[in-house]
Amino acid sequence: MSLKSNKKAIGESHSKLILVGEHAVVYGKPAIAMPFPLKVRATVKESKGPIKFKSSLYRGYIYEMPNEMRGIEECIKETLNYLNKPIRDLHITIDSLIPIGRGLGSSAAISITIVRSLFSFYRQKLSKDILFSLVTVAETYAHGNPSGLDMIASSSEYPIWFKKGKESMTIKIREPFHIVVADTGRTGNTRRAVTNVKKRYDLEKSNIQKSLAKIERIADESKYALVNGDNNLLGKLMNLNQQELINLGVSDDNLNKLINVAINAGALGAKLTGGGLGGCIIALGRDLEHSKVVADELVKSGVEKSWYFSTENERLYVSLND
Ligand code: MEV
Repeated sequence: MSLKSNKKAIGESHSKLILVGEHAVVYGKPAIAMPFPLKVRATVKESKGPIKFKSSLYRGYIYEMPNEMRGIEECIKETLNYLNKPIRDLHITIDSLIPIGRGLGSSAAISITIVRSLFSFYRQKLSKDILFSLVTVAETYAHGNPSGLDMIASSSEYPIWFKKGKESMTIKIREPFHIVVADTGRTGNTRRAVTNVKKRYDLEKSNIQKSLAKIERIADESKYALVNGDNNLLGKLMNLNQQELINLGVSDDNLNKLINVAINAGALGAKLTGGGLGGCIIALGRDLEHSKVVADELVKSGVEKSWYFSTENERLYVSLND
């Protein structure tokens, strides 16, 4: 391996949204996710001494990171071990626009940027397989039993069809669609939500298995809707998916209320996205203008922030509380 390094290197990634199939994906069912253009960047520079880390959550040496960031520390160490480089003499800075713990894939996106930036710093080529195996180190610390969906979606530029342990596939969408994302401002806890579903699965196996089977059909039909440009059908399927997420026990009163606000504002469909029990909801607008109406209604109902965008272009619009 080359002994040379760059003086400074950057790695980038972005947020993700799960359109349908979260939680069921942990049980081997398919899910559909897509990129969400909130960016994150890691910058690596040379700096003598133990590795220093700077982010909105923590600033200091990696060996003193708080417990909830242990996965990031391990991911940095594993990456440097893989590169055969010393675990020292670096300064890593994270600049992220992704709110943390809102089901938007911030932990996977941050780990992706770190691995990418370290490979770039040491001028090494990074294959997808190596990227995913190094990011899995951090994701396992963060979520316990991750399906891998977050990291694949956060490193993809297109909507994807994902099944645990299988090669993901890009979905070619026929018609653009328009998504509203609303942040409740409440931190979800994916690890807790996944554990709750597992407990429920063990207690009420046949009920939960029925839900998982329904979600599988919803994912299949959603793929059909995307490939055929049937946004009305996609909206209906999002609503059906939400009913099953309620049955799995990962929605709550506040999420349900916001989903109703979106539906009453004319959204074609709405559901929670990601782990649930806090975090974000997504809604399907009729067009970009209508998505703004839905986003504004959600902000009036008290969400912290609402974004809307069209899959036609990368531009992200924000609706904020005054
Ligand atoms: C979290 O963004 C998605 C979940 O399905 C967990 C996972 O896939 O690992 C809830």
